[in-house]
Amino acid sequence: MTHRGCLIGCGFFARNHMHAWTDLPGARITAVCDTDRARAEAFARDFGVASIYTDAAEMLAAERPDFCDIATTPPSHRALVELAAPHARLLICQKPIADTLEDARAMVAACEAAGAALVIHENFRWQAPLVRMKAVIEQGGIGTPRHGRFEFRHKWDVYAGQPYLAEFPRLAIMDVGVHVFDLARHFMGEAAAITCETQRRNPRVAGEDAFTVLTRHATGDVSVCDVSFHSRYDPEPFPQVWARVEGDEGTIELLPGHRLVIHGEAGRVEEDGEPPVPAWGERPWHVVQDSVRRFQAHVIDVLDGRTMPQPSGADNVRTLALCLAAYESAETGRRVTLEAQT
Ligand SMILES: NC(=O)c1ccc[n+]([C@@H]2O[C@H](COP(=O)([O-])OP(=O)(O)OC[C@H]3O[C@@H](n4cnc5c(N)ncnc54)[C@H](O)[C@@H]3O)[C@@H](O)[C@H]2O)c1
Repeated sequence: MTHRGCLIGCGFFARNHMHAWTDLPGARITAVCDTDRARAEAFARDFGVASIYTDAAEMLAAERPDFCDIATTPPSHRALVELAAPHARLLICQKPIADTLEDARAMVAACEAAGAALVIHENFRWQAPLVRMKAVIEQGGIGTPRHGRFEFRHKWDVYAGQPYLAEFPRLAIMDVGVHVFDLARHFMGEAAAITCETQRRNPRVAGEDAFTVLTRHATGDVSVCDVSFHSRYDPEPFPQVWARVEGDEGTIELLPGHRLVIHGEAGRVEEDGEPPVPAWGERPWHVVQDSVRRFQAHVIDVLDGRTMPQPSGADNVRTLALCLAAYESAETGRRVTLEAQT
């Protein structure tokens, strides 16, 4: 069965969504919408989509899709999710889910009331080397995880493709914190308390472009999330995640160059974690582009009833709570407990 979808927001990242939908046999985008008509027209022409709209309400009423893929920036997320929930069985919303917990919770409630599934387009946990890392841990390769480190540090000009980022008063935590906090929760479990320090290293940008977060997880275990948009390395590592999880019986690391190293009972085992470059993709984006395809294949599994959303809207509210707690910690200079946030 091929699920019929509508896509809202024909901007920078939606092109990856659309290439991946075109690749996947279980789903087809029948219509696209952007408030900027010229953008919608160029997008539809590039991908051979027949129906173009500038009004999402009109599109949803006319198309009656199985699913709706929302690829706009956060200020529009709540209104679009509330609009689309009664019209589709499943909604995908790009990260960050929203700017406030109030909006995020309202989005989850709207989908629950309408009986629609809400999946957040959180693609880092779907990156090939991180999927492999999780599988090694679940197979007992390092014993119980006790300490995690999740890093995203680079000096790539992210402002060229996403100029709006330079204006955001809340930058790195809301843009990439959502990804690395999702990883910290995915690998180490729920967060109980965090401490955050932020930096603004690039004077051209309004918000914080670097942060370091120390998390105590509910298990008592600890992780560090370390992000910077202004750190020079050669070769430029963007958009690679570096990660390390230490367990009671071993350690697994994701190192520059997509190299996975397992320090286990058998000694050191090294694997190449690099995914292939999609036919429509290019380096250095391929690890992200491949993860978009994996994430969307997962959405088709959810639509087919084979699995549950990863991550769901309700789950992702807890990641947003972690972001907001990070700002609170940085602003007050205090450790923030998460029970109070969720
Ligand atoms: N998961 C990832 O790896 C990743 C990477 C980059 C961006 N993103 C996320 O993707 C989202 C979009 O980012 P982008 O850089 O593509 O933004 P963008 O500004 O390039 O594109 C957004 C588009 O949405 C349209 N739009 C806004 N409100 C609308 C509405 N109500 N109805 C119809 N169209 C509307 C705009 O006109 C614009 O064309 C952001 O939330 C961003 O954080 C995710």
